[in-house]
Amino acid sequence: MLEVAGIRHSYQSQLVLDLPHWRADEGDQWLLHGPSGCGKSTLLHILGGLLTPSEGIVTLAGTELGTLRGAAGDRYRGRHIGIVFQQLHLIDAITVRQNLTLAQRFAGLPVDEARATEILTVLGLADKANAFPFALSHGQAQRVALARALINRPAVVLADEPTSNLDDENAARALALLRDQARAHGSALVIASHDGRIKDAFEKRLELPARREAAA
Ligand SMILES: Nc1ncnc2c1ncn2[C@@H]1O[C@H](COP(=O)(O)OP(=O)(O)OP(=O)(O)O)[C@@H](O)[C@H]1O
Ligand SMILES: [Mg+2]
Repeated sequence: MLEVAGIRHSYQSQLVLDLPHWRADEGDQWLLHGPSGCGKSTLLHILGGLLTPSEGIVTLAGTELGTLRGAAGDRYRGRHIGIVFQQLHLIDAITVRQNLTLAQRFAGLPVDEARATEILTVLGLADKANAFPFALSHGQAQRVALARALINRPAVVLADEPTSNLDDENAARALALLRDQARAHGSALVIASHDGRIKDAFEKRLELPARREAAA
């Protein structure tokens, strides 16, 4: 469903990613693993259509992400791809609930307050709907970021280090919520992580090698 062909990416002519072929099928749960600097975030941004690779293509259910343009492209990504960023990128000036309904608007979907309430409840955030993100604990903010990625029931959920800076209990909770919700919607899930605590929790693992030439 999500498929990569001949991806290579360089920053300032330095090759940081070389992935000839990889695919995730509907409902697959993948761990993207490797040392810091090996290109996990870069690949996740490419899979989310946020970064165009130097070479190669990514297709999602037959749509080539590189062909998406402008507002229509933003709506397509908002509808079909949910992303949890390494830095959460919640909007502090609006409430938790408004952060979620904004994701519906960006996707060109009608605002569905009942769906926002539902996902907040599932993630244990019902009492935080009217709070502002800056007033949340890190574990709570992380769960709001998960809720925003999941609210539109995307075909693909991408999460960049979703357990970083969380204690063991919150890390396990965030991971379980992400996996359960992805499973419930049949979404493909790709988690980028170097967190040793979750290394063995995934059957499907894509190991990216350390890039020695990049460090040289
Ligand atoms: N915008 C950029 N400009 C130049 N180099 C970059 C840029 N973004 C990333 N890099 C470099 O590309 C390489 C891969 O970075 P990336 O962030 O994808 O790694 P990562 O595996 O996600 O690391 P971490 O585990 O620390 O999050 C690193 O060497 C990094 O310094
Ligand atoms: Mg990263």
